Amino acid sequence: MKLNRLIFERIDHRILVGTVSFLAIMVLVGWIWINENARMAAFEAQYLARSIERGAELYGSSCSSCHGVDGRGALGVAPALDNPSLFGHDFLAEINAQVNTLSTERTAAEAQGNTTRVAEIDTQLADLQSQSDALVAQMQSAVNVGYDPAAPNRLVDLGWGSTLHNFVYSTMASGRPVSESYWPQPMPAWAQANGGSLRPDQLEDITNFILNWDRGDDWTIEDLNAVRQFAIYPINPATVPTGGQQDPPVGLDTSIDEIMIGLAEVTGDPQVGDQLYNGVVFGCAGCHISAAVAPPIEGTWTRVINERLLEPQFAGYTGEQYLAESITHPGAFTVPGYLAGVMPTNFGERTTFQQLADMIAYLKTQDQ
Ligand code: HEC
Ligand code: HEC
Repeated sequence: MKLNRLIFERIDHRILVGTVSFLAIMVLVGWIWINENARMAAFEAQYLARSIERGAELYGSSCSSCHGVDGRGALGVAPALDNPSLFGHDFLAEINAQVNTLSTERTAAEAQGNTTRVAEIDTQLADLQSQSDALVAQMQSAVNVGYDPAAPNRLVDLGWGSTLHNFVYSTMASGRPVSESYWPQPMPAWAQANGGSLRPDQLEDITNFILNWDRGDDWTIEDLNAVRQFAIYPINPATVPTGGQQDPPVGLDTSIDEIMIGLAEVTGDPQVGDQLYNGVVFGCAGCHISAAVAPPIEGTWTRVINERLLEPQFAGYTGEQYLAESITHPGAFTVPGYLAGVMPTNFGERTTFQQLADMIAYLKTQDQ
């Protein structure tokens, strides 16, 4: 009996010890596992943080001269990257979703002859419209530098099918040689494989730095209005009806007297000039739409005749001559109240005589 009890006791004991050790091991394993995950996450976060840091440095030395130290772009030079539109944030998305839902409901209500509901919906739609108008009004300074509230998503507009990461990385790697036709300096290629100076890991670091500007749902209208330049959309030059597209450009160093001789041989078309001036190829309106940035389009011709030509410097000038010189040699004269050096100085090599004549003809219609 005594021996029996002893064995039982011992087995109890063993089971207990076994169970306790098993549980202890499980707790230990679990504890290590949890900590390992946290450790890995911390490691990855640290790795990304270091990559972003290296990216920031490379951005400062390679990109900031065109895209701005803060990534908000430079007027007439390069578009912003710290930019809600590049990250696809649509400030009007919520309002537009409500408008769509209500419009569908309205069609159904109308089909059922439910005039009360239709009237109700119309009131709501009008309210949403005024909310939308109010928001768009707040975006005015962004609109002045190229933002289009109706086309808020850069990648969607471009029909880009992949991720933003790949967009940034590949644009950087291969550059945009064609952007020469619509920016003073094209976006250069940076990958060593394409003749640039950056290794793949460096391109990755800069990409991480740029993606780090994403604010998710927290983008504000202030962020939008802080952008100095939005992307511009080239239209296929072949579709611009200039008549003289294949002609050589006016030339950077061509004197104003020679330019006037060249202009005498062509006839300007104000309709085409309107497209050139207000379109994206030259982007004139991008600046001239806002009186804060550049002399406004409206009344240009009136000011030329009544104010500019009275300046002693322009004694003997015709209005056309003043315009031709303002466009091709902006350094010759700075309109009072505006900054010198903002108006691009390279239109001489970007426009043909025909295009210059077209734009002058268009500006002459601004005589109100
Ligand atoms: C010489 C000026 C210049 C420099 C330097 C430059 N860029 Fe650009 N970049 C441009 C221009 C101009 C565009 C617009 C091209 C276009 O619209 O096709 C552009 C476009 C881009 C775009 C695409 C933006 C969009 O909305 O389409 C990205 C991304 C970009 N640059 C990143 C960089 C990075 C990163 C660097 C530094 C490694 C850099 N750029 C250096 C001039 C420059
Ligand atoms: C990046 C901004 C910018 C762009 C793009 C731009 N301009 Fe200007 N423009 C200015 C500024 C700023 C002034 C006033 C300062 C000065 O005289 O240089 C000016 C002055 C002028 C003037 C003189 C206006 C006056 O009231 O006397 C004319 C004309 C003109 N621009 C035409 C054009 C045309 C045409 C284009 C496109 C082919 C163009 N600009 C593109 C910024 C711009």
